[in-house]
Amino acid sequence: MTVFDRFRLNKKRALISGGSRGLGRAIAQALAEAGADLVLTGRDLATLQKAKEELSALGRAVDILQADLVSSEGTEAMCREVLARHGPIDILVNNVGGRRENIEFLEQSTADWQRLMDLNLTSCFICCREFGKPMVERGWGRIINIASMCGQIVGRNISGRHYETAKAAMVGLTRCLGADWATRGVTVNAIAPGGFLTDANFRWFRERPELKQQFEAVIPMGRLGNPEEIGPLAVYLASDASSYMTGAYLLIDGGFTLW
Ligand SMILES: NC(=O)c1ccc[n+]([C@@H]2O[C@H](COP(=O)([O-])OP(=O)(O)OC[C@H]3O[C@@H](n4cnc5c(N)ncnc54)[C@H](OP(=O)(O)O)[C@@H]3O)[C@@H](O)[C@H]2O)c1
Repeated sequence: MTVFDRFRLNKKRALISGGSRGLGRAIAQALAEAGADLVLTGRDLATLQKAKEELSALGRAVDILQADLVSSEGTEAMCREVLARHGPIDILVNNVGGRRENIEFLEQSTADWQRLMDLNLTSCFICCREFGKPMVERGWGRIINIASMCGQIVGRNISGRHYETAKAAMVGLTRCLGADWATRGVTVNAIAPGGFLTDANFRWFRERPELKQQFEAVIPMGRLGNPEEIGPLAVYLASDASSYMTGAYLLIDGGFTLW
């Protein structure tokens, strides 16, 4: 077996929440190229269908499921449906989330806080529990939590502090499950992206054009990341190549957090 064989994902099934666009879509592509079959979730059916069409061309099975993970009920229903359709999942990528709302802390209602924490954190907790159980029972699994460098630093010139809070907690959960399941064949790791060129950021840059330049000026590499640059790291964490890594928090930020 060569080192590249250790990255192969043949006969594995990966679930990527928010796999229809952005970083989730790029991770889905990378996992499929490495040999995995896919289950993608998102709210918009047309975007999911487009992703399915494009990714099926890689020769892998691609299933899609329309689901809103902003509520516990929606997330639990999605988990039940996926397990009913496919049985245990081998690779879980908890990718759904985002800052979305630039709400001043002193103005943020409890209901908004709760809703955004549920989207960013509770959905991850529920998916880890529901898909983690069969992983632990079978003695193999890979969980990849898409956190953010904002789990470690605070976004400047922007509000919506549910985001930093939820991402830091996601890293805490990653560490806990990494330790709890370390001898059970299930690894749990977090990827912490810096700024990437996805719809979420294009929207911010449209609303506040000065943000892009401000952002790039404080990235040592001088640019935001392209979504496909996250794929190889996800393949590493999803495969046997990362067999001795768990509970880790891996920054991929063009050096942003160095300055
Ligand atoms: N982009 C960055 O610079 C960056 C940096 C650090 C961390 N991250 C993290 O990386 C993850 C992905 O970010 P992204 O920039 O790729 O986001 P994005 O472009 O907004 O894509 C989000 C994905 O999640 C789905 N989604 C959104 N809301 C959902 C909901 N309520 N229920 C179910 N699915 C939902 C979207 O599809 P629908 O809209 O059709 O539902 C889409 O597939 C997030 O957790 C984000 O916090 C991103």
